[in-house]
Amino acid sequence: MTITPKLLTIKQASEWATNYIGKNVTTSNIAYLIQYGLVRKIGENGNTQVLQEELEEYYDRYFTTNESKIKTEIILGDCKDELKNIADNSVDLIVTSPPYADQRKKTYGGITPERYVEWFLPISKELLRVLKPAGTFILNIKEKVVDGERSTYVMELILEMRQQGWLWTEEFIWHKKNCYPGKWANRFRDAWERLLQFNKSRKFNMYQDAVKIPIGDWANGRLKNLSETDKIRDNAKNGSGFGKNISNWIGKETVYPTNVVHLSTECNNKNHSAAFPDSLPEWFIKLFTQENDTVLDPFAGSGTTLKVAKRMYRNSVGIEILPEYVELIKAITKEEQLNIF
Ligand SMILES: C[S@@+](CC[C@H](N)C(=O)[O-])C[C@H]1O[C@@H](n2cnc3c(N)ncnc32)[C@H](O)[C@@H]1O
Repeated sequence: MTITPKLLTIKQASEWATNYIGKNVTTSNIAYLIQYGLVRKIGENGNTQVLQEELEEYYDRYFTTNESKIKTEIILGDCKDELKNIADNSVDLIVTSPPYADQRKKTYGGITPERYVEWFLPISKELLRVLKPAGTFILNIKEKVVDGERSTYVMELILEMRQQGWLWTEEFIWHKKNCYPGKWANRFRDAWERLLQFNKSRKFNMYQDAVKIPIGDWANGRLKNLSETDKIRDNAKNGSGFGKNISNWIGKETVYPTNVVHLSTECNNKNHSAAFPDSLPEWFIKLFTQENDTVLDPFAGSGTTLKVAKRMYRNSVGIEILPEYVELIKAITKEEQLNIF
């Protein structure tokens, strides 16, 4: 006997889940599960459905493993000191955006470009100690313009961190899809920031399939009528050694992304002047961790990293020097819990 999968509309799903777990599950909670890929979306907008068996599996797993296990820890203090209390080799991923040199002095104090490396190195030394050997450190940073020139402190920092024992493995570019408007006489709008990747070893955990993207409309036309050359490996004419076999893309719906991460700057968080969007830590958490792993943000700000980590069933630790932000983090990470059910 074949069992037909049971499809539920979003409203039916919320009613079914409320009944199943004995707590109020709203339609927006269900939309949330779809948005974060925890259950699949079947059908198009206006006629969206989910599979009851997937919901059941999600709630069973949530209550038996994640709910009791996932920890979100918020520490008030200077990360230079507080990091010393974190165990060696205990963190899978560090994602952070420290104060940029000499910026936002009014809100949380800036460090001058000249002092930046000296200020950061004792912190990165601790980060190197707490990161697991197969872990990754993502540093969001961008040098500002001083006296008409880009400052060089980020480059100096990279060189010093390499001396400290870090491998500078990759540089992702955060392309800010909606950067500030404006016009300057000697430069264009600044539409990107650095996302520097550092590692302790050349063999680090990376879950590339977790960030695959849709192949895009180009495939419909391009793959329809393949030439003979498209069906074999076609080596680049410039002798670079690169080559491609176009027919390899047939039947593929998703492909690997590049090292340019296209994200809007907008975030829902109006309580911090420099919060990054949820999608930024989310992308790296997917790429470098698995459920139950531990994510650290030593400059937690409004707690975006912690909030997203919790939503994705990762343990997290955040350190923040300003008490008002620590209170904010406590509020939003609590809210995040409520969003799930
Ligand atoms: C750029 S913000 C981080 C914003 C965060 N990514 C978010 O999404 O909200 C940097 C944060 O680091 C905090 N901070 C500055 N120096 C610190 C230190 N030594 N230890 C811990 N936190 C610090 C600031 O108060 C600020 O909230």
